[in-house]
Amino acid sequence: MLNLEKKIKKNFQGIYKACGNKFWFTCGSYLIDGQKYKYDKRMLGKQILLYNLAKENSRILEVGVYMGHSMLIMLASNPKLKITGLDIDKRFAPKAVNYLKKKFTNSKIELVLGDSIENLKKFKSDFDLYHIDGDHRPIKIYKEIYACIKLHKKKKIKILFDDVDMMASVEKILFTSFKIQKFNKPKSRHRNLYVEMILTKKSIKKFKNSFLLFSLNYFLFALVPFYIKRLILLTLKVILGKKNCNRLIDFLQSKLKSKIYFFSRKKLKNI
Ligand SMILES: C[S@@+](CC[C@H](N)C(=O)[O-])C[C@H]1O[C@@H](n2cnc3c(N)ncnc32)[C@H](O)[C@@H]1O
Repeated sequence: MLNLEKKIKKNFQGIYKACGNKFWFTCGSYLIDGQKYKYDKRMLGKQILLYNLAKENSRILEVGVYMGHSMLIMLASNPKLKITGLDIDKRFAPKAVNYLKKKFTNSKIELVLGDSIENLKKFKSDFDLYHIDGDHRPIKIYKEIYACIKLHKKKKIKILFDDVDMMASVEKILFTSFKIQKFNKPKSRHRNLYVEMILTKKSIKKFKNSFLLFSLNYFLFALVPFYIKRLILLTLKVILGKKNCNRLIDFLQSKLKSKIYFFSRKKLKNI
């Protein structure tokens, strides 16, 4: 039985030292809960999934490096890995990556600083596995998935998402747009999700369209002030009539299964 805590213990402390005995309070990782710098065994399920995936894949792209904890798990599993990490924050990732480079001399680790989307657009060659663990907002994750898909050259893409419960809407869109050949969502605190998806022109288009609708919904019903929402709904109701307006909302709701539409329909009935 794998004792991951024991396997990474020395380097886990080594990274902390390399980062000046500091961490980003509230920012969690695969190994810490963001409250204190202490190994969190409640995340063992997702740690093992990442560990096993690193054995099967040799070129990995990671969005969101932070203190290099997920990189450490991957390197502990496969010390010859080629990992490219992306991070927008300069405080921890460069120090952590320099430390890991010194400890895993058979690996090839590259760190690219800056925004994930901007940098994903610049890559020429693709990866065996994409690990998405950066900004956890659904709209950003969607853009990262799309950038990875555009970069990927093969028909099947493998993606691991961290903290999947933060991206329920994106998860639904993924499962309705693509043929999912394999998936794994282990029992774990802040669980992750692994998917192997088949990319076709049709499925990519479906994914794009579903997300467009999602974004529209998001901006219309989540960001826009209430009185503007009322005005839009009222205008729609006048133009289309109450019945057609409800039909439209039902259609959008069935496409995205979003609770926000349901809420908006209730609002619509009250106008
Ligand atoms: C949860 S942490 C990553 C944890 C890491 N994978 C681990 O388990 O050790 C998220 C990281 O994503 C980075 N990040 C947030 N937004 C980003 C963006 N737009 N582009 C690149 N990195 C981003 C943050 O700076 C942070 O270091």
